[in-house]
Amino acid sequence: MPTPIAKSPPPSPAPAASPSAFRIRRARRGDAEALATLLKELGYPDGSDTQTVHWVTSHPEIEIFVACDPQDKPVGMLSLSHRPQLRLRGRIATVDELVVTEAWRRRGVGRALLLHAIERSRVLSVKRLELAARSESGSDTARFYEACGFVGDCMVFRHGGS
Ligand SMILES: CC(C)(COP(=O)(O)OP(=O)(O)OC[C@H]1O[C@@H](n2cnc3c(N)ncnc32)[C@H](O)[C@@H]1OP(=O)(O)O)[C@@H](O)C(=O)NCCC(=O)NCCS
Repeated sequence: MPTPIAKSPPPSPAPAASPSAFRIRRARRGDAEALATLLKELGYPDGSDTQTVHWVTSHPEIEIFVACDPQDKPVGMLSLSHRPQLRLRGRIATVDELVVTEAWRRRGVGRALLLHAIERSRVLSVKRLELAARSESGSDTARFYEACGFVGDCMVFRHGGS
């Protein structure tokens, strides 16, 4: 059973490590291939197709951020969706996908992408930022989210999809 993790943004997140080695920007249509490769690393062998990338990157309530190496090649990506929610009387945001390519892990890229999403959520007046992770308590992924200030909150059930 996957252990989902969801939490509000931490008030004072720690700074990202080595910010000079990579930079974060919004994804562009030309990043479609790189995004597909990163999604494969996340465990989705079909990745994504150009049409879907164009659809998602132009959607008004979805933002995709990429962390790029000095050659502007995406080495990590995070997608953030947001919409109004009744019970919050405000906006809720979800980290839909987050992955850093293996060669760039443990260099602060994942944390920097999350902090970027937290800051963007603040600008959008988001009241709650959450995510669901397929990971057990104590796993590497859980340790990563905890290190970034998130805590496990509730279970997630799904109908369809994978
Ligand atoms: C999870 C993931 C995004 C983390 O990205 P990252 O760039 O390696 O993470 P960071 O370097 O920013 O790590 C920040 C902190 O999280 C913790 N952390 C990260 N990876 C960890 C690991 N494998 N084991 C234990 N702690 C870890 C550490 O405290 C780390 O700080 P430190 O390196 O100073 O000790 C990356 O490992 C990844 O893409 N994994 C595969 C896909 C995945 O699991 N995505 C999330 C699915 S919901």
